[in-house]
Amino acid sequence: MREIKTRQLNENFFEVMKSEWALLTAGTLDKFNTMTIGWLTAGIIWGKDVITCYVRPSRYTYEFIQDNDLFTISFYYPQYRNLLSHLGTHSGRDEDKVKTVGFHPIELNHAVSFEEARMTIICKKIYDQAMDETQMQTFGIERYYPRGDYHRFYIGEIIKVYVKD
Ligand SMILES: Cc1cc2nc3c(=O)[nH]c(=O)nc-3n(C[C@H](O)[C@H](O)[C@H](O)COP(=O)(O)O)c2cc1C
Repeated sequence: MREIKTRQLNENFFEVMKSEWALLTAGTLDKFNTMTIGWLTAGIIWGKDVITCYVRPSRYTYEFIQDNDLFTISFYYPQYRNLLSHLGTHSGRDEDKVKTVGFHPIELNHAVSFEEARMTIICKKIYDQAMDETQMQTFGIERYYPRGDYHRFYIGEIIKVYVKD
């Protein structure tokens, strides 16, 4: 793994999130959980480079991102898509899904990612808030929240970016 600066990031997040997805992981090497994400926004707020991710409270990963200051977003080559699909359709509450897919967890800067990742971004939570249905257009409520479980969003300051050569 080689560290790069945020400015050296050469990712089309629109394309990547649509076709390859990513993993959101929170916790420590001895107690973490991971899940697939398809939503992510990247940019600048309060003068900081940030990534925002969106987690429904029903996810097991929610407990981990709530309880820890750091989280990672890790990215994979398209051949891992089936495995990411498994990690996004099974809960860590019910199985050791990391073992099922055969990923190898690694500690990176006090956070957790996987050996298989082509890139890992380590983020420090700087703001989080539950989505407020009173502020949402009805299309969003009807389409995404028929059963509630409104996403909580987490703005994470980008602390480190690691890539695999
Ligand atoms: C392609 C894809 C994208 C997903 N994106 C998100 C997301 O952005 N936010 C979210 O809360 N769940 C998302 N999910 C659902 C979670 O990954 C899924 O519910 C997972 O099983 C949760 O695992 P956990 O209970 O171990 O945390 C996505 C699932 C898939 C397959």
